[in-house]
Amino acid sequence: MKIDLLSPQTFATGHPFAEYRWLRDHAPVHWHEEPNGPGFWAVTRYADVHDVDRNHAAFSSEPTIMIQDPPPEQQAQFGPYKMMLMMDPPQHTAYRKLIRSAFTHDSADALGPRMGQLATEIVDKVIERGECDFVQDIAGEMPSYVIAELMGLPREDGRELYKLTEIIHTAPEALPEGAGAAAVAKMFEYGQGVISEKRARPANDLATRLLQAEVDGKRLDDIEFLLFFLLLVDAGGDTTRNLLASGLIALLEKPPELAWLKSDLASRLPAAREELLRWCTPVVYMRRTARHDTSIAGQPIKQGQKVVMYFGSANRDSAHFEQPDHLRLSRAPNEHIAFGNGPHVCLGQHIARIEIDAVLREVLSRMERVEIVGVPEWLPSNFISGPKHLSIRFKPGKISGRQS
Ligand code: HEM
Repeated sequence: MKIDLLSPQTFATGHPFAEYRWLRDHAPVHWHEEPNGPGFWAVTRYADVHDVDRNHAAFSSEPTIMIQDPPPEQQAQFGPYKMMLMMDPPQHTAYRKLIRSAFTHDSADALGPRMGQLATEIVDKVIERGECDFVQDIAGEMPSYVIAELMGLPREDGRELYKLTEIIHTAPEALPEGAGAAAVAKMFEYGQGVISEKRARPANDLATRLLQAEVDGKRLDDIEFLLFFLLLVDAGGDTTRNLLASGLIALLEKPPELAWLKSDLASRLPAAREELLRWCTPVVYMRRTARHDTSIAGQPIKQGQKVVMYFGSANRDSAHFEQPDHLRLSRAPNEHIAFGNGPHVCLGQHIARIEIDAVLREVLSRMERVEIVGVPEWLPSNFISGPKHLSIRFKPGKISGRQS
């Protein structure tokens, strides 16, 4: 079978599940050529993805978690600085500790009522129209609001930042020349403004906390703050959005499952949300680099070689999930790996779950007879999976009148 896990075309309508299956069955640790690079090992079985992600002693997150190494000009721009996502313990542990408390179960639960209110407002904005772009008007709204709330920014700005995230996650070949770099530059320019604002007027938010935090007795440099800022905006934006949008497609394609969910939404939503996370897996891969000669499932790996974990494939592995190609909203247990695993396991997972529940609860209880119009347009990316536009039609309803 022809395998090309680099081309965004391969991901043009979602994960390439047939290719993943072939790889799991025939070449679970597969050497993948790279036209402009040395090549990489594609790891596709659940057990191997799970082990590689946990084993930071053998598999490093440095210099990057993207398949392509950063271009030299970018390395020069940031010098020794990098995002926490691209650090290894113990440095990673110290940086993660700085923001950990904002992402605990309790902190996420405290945001719950506000997210419920936001979800009501988001649906209010479209409910009378009877049609909308589910991605732009509903799914994308929630994460942009949430990141703005967390960081203490105006809501409108959250939306602008989220648009930049979308550009950053689009494959460079699908963008006008320099658009990706321009989006990163804009994000940093905005972050620089946040630094000035929060230093002048400290507040009870994550941005202020980061600016006041210390690692090894030293406050974060501006650039360290900016890299945190980029990571938080970036990681929490279109991941959650894509889960909601591809999750809605999955639900509409399986009317019996949707009916089962709707008939007892309150108690069935948690299991259904976990199954949608498994089914949709918004983050396609994370890369590691072998620190020393080692092996994965008997395949020798040389020091310095790239190892890429495919989460969407791991989540369809029949060695781990019974009937993995069936969407079963009641699935239990459901140890999916959509949030990764090990030291870098998604820090925002509790917040993401509350966001997802808030939006699905509102959409499924208030929007009736939802149907997809036309063909969803997928984000051209080999890194993040989900539709960019999803036109839907539904029976017009009434606004709730609940405004903040
Ligand atoms: C459905 C939504 C989401 C998915 C599928 C997702 C998935 C992931 C994955 C796969 C990783 C890497 C894990 C690994 O390497 O093992 C990650 C890391 C991360 N995520 Fe999420 N994420 C989501 C939402 C969020 C949200 C809402 C936030 C913040 C508000 C967030 C913040 C982070 C951060 C900060 C990291 C880096 C953690 C570290 O390096 O220690 N994520 N996420």
